[in-house]
Amino acid sequence: MDAMQAILTRRSIRKYTSEPVSDEQVTELLKAAMSAPTAGNQPWHFVVVRDRAALDSITRFHPHAEMLKQASVAISISGDPTVETLKGRWLLDCAAATENILIAANALDLGACWVGIYPVEERIKALRNLLGIPEHVIPLSMVSLGHPGEKKDPPDRFRPERIHYDTW
Ligand SMILES: Cc1cc2nc3c(=O)[nH]c(=O)nc-3n(C[C@H](O)[C@H](O)[C@H](O)COP(=O)(O)O)c2cc1C
Repeated sequence: MDAMQAILTRRSIRKYTSEPVSDEQVTELLKAAMSAPTAGNQPWHFVVVRDRAALDSITRFHPHAEMLKQASVAISISGDPTVETLKGRWLLDCAAATENILIAANALDLGACWVGIYPVEERIKALRNLLGIPEHVIPLSMVSLGHPGEKKDPPDRFRPERIHYDTW
């Protein structure tokens, strides 16, 4: 799959088969994450979560994370504001890394979905506690991953009326 196809056909996949996602595939996804542009001195940290009980328990504090119960693995993406050279950029860098994982997952024929953590304080605290993320590090998101158990058509979100040339 070429890059444009991976971007244009990406959808949130929330149903997965029982086939595991391999460590090699996870490494590919992490390479994609760390290839994202960075304005904050690569402030990200990733926790690869395969522990079934941990994945299931996230639904206790997150109302939109049921897909984690089927996911083979999930990756949490967090930022360390203490290393960033420009204030506040950790958030943007972690969002770019998250999107790269989603696109790379589609390119590898995996299903993936963004699970929002930041800025909901309760989710941030609970995920920190669950995964042992240090206090100064802020979890932005998780990506649930598995072999797709559902198919979705590519979205049609092209809105020419939102495009302005030279001036608004
Ligand atoms: C910041 C952010 C947070 C999101 N959080 C969740 C979430 O917690 N649970 C979920 O099921 N989907 C979540 N999503 C996925 C969106 O629901 C999804 O991208 C949107 O409905 C568009 O569908 P698509 O991804 O299939 O194109 C999130 C997406 C973003 C960008």
